[in-house]
Amino acid sequence: MEDSKGASRTAVLVCQGRAAAHGLLAPDRFADPVAAELLHPDELAVVEQVRADGATGHRSGFEVELVRGCAEVLVPRTLAIDEAVRDAGHRQLVVLGAGLDSRAWRMPELADTTVFEVDHPSSQADKRERVAGLSPTAQAVEFVPVDLRRQALGPALGRVRFDPTTPTTWVWEGVVPYLTETEVERTARQLSDLSAAGSRLVVNYQAPSVVAALGRGLVRVSSRVSGRPNPYAEEPHRSAWTSRALGELLALYGFDVRWDADLLTLAQGVEMAVHHRRSLHNGHVLVAEARA
Ligand SMILES: C[S@@+](CC[C@H](N)C(=O)[O-])C[C@H]1O[C@@H](n2cnc3c(N)ncnc32)[C@H](O)[C@@H]1O
Repeated sequence: MEDSKGASRTAVLVCQGRAAAHGLLAPDRFADPVAAELLHPDELAVVEQVRADGATGHRSGFEVELVRGCAEVLVPRTLAIDEAVRDAGHRQLVVLGAGLDSRAWRMPELADTTVFEVDHPSSQADKRERVAGLSPTAQAVEFVPVDLRRQALGPALGRVRFDPTTPTTWVWEGVVPYLTETEVERTARQLSDLSAAGSRLVVNYQAPSVVAALGRGLVRVSSRVSGRPNPYAEEPHRSAWTSRALGELLALYGFDVRWDADLLTLAQGVEMAVHHRRSLHNGHVLVAEARA
């Protein structure tokens, strides 16, 4: 995040994607009723337009198309990560770059879990205002402001009674692209130091793709032409990873990859219609476990 004063706009975009998908895409499997509650009225208006047009819709403007595409990506991504969190069943969940993640206010399975929300300080201040009226389903929520590019995770988590001797689930979703390779490696090293054996690391990352880079260029141009804000303007992509490169990096820091799947494969597993095959194909979720 370049502008340390501003809260993340991509966090709003993915929250709009989840709110748009709710009840519309894979309705038997996916639900995020909290996402809409986290949005401001102007942000929600775009979501309502997507929902009114349906999953495919007609071409109806830059922001609506962005949210529609995002909704499709967010369904398999959210379902896979939720399942990994449930499967681990740990009493500590750390959400790195939490943005407007709703798990602590949505998942009943977290009733015995403390959720530590780590985020850039400005994004976190914005989140705290947005959740002020909501009751968590998690046992407790601790907010931990950390700029992962500049600050250490350990001391910040230490201040809120995070216990590194207890197995932890780490969710690192939608953040890796905004960190350089060096910053990803530094974060992985810190997670390793803070992970008891059996801890799980759930990572969503982007594979290298020329088409995705061209797509971001198209978003820039469309934003300029339409005069509407580009959510990626202050959050440039800094790294993309092959499964092999990220797996090797994690192995170096004591995490063995249990599975790694692209979002297109995960979407096929939930039998949802897919219109943005390339976007889904480039996104991955992996689950790794900390060695003893
Ligand atoms: C695309 S949003 C994803 C939010 C959330 N994980 C989700 O999937 O809904 C990117 C998030 O990464 C966070 N982020 C980006 N750079 C960061 C940094 N240097 N330190 C901490 N968080 C950062 C932003 O604040 C934002 O919340």
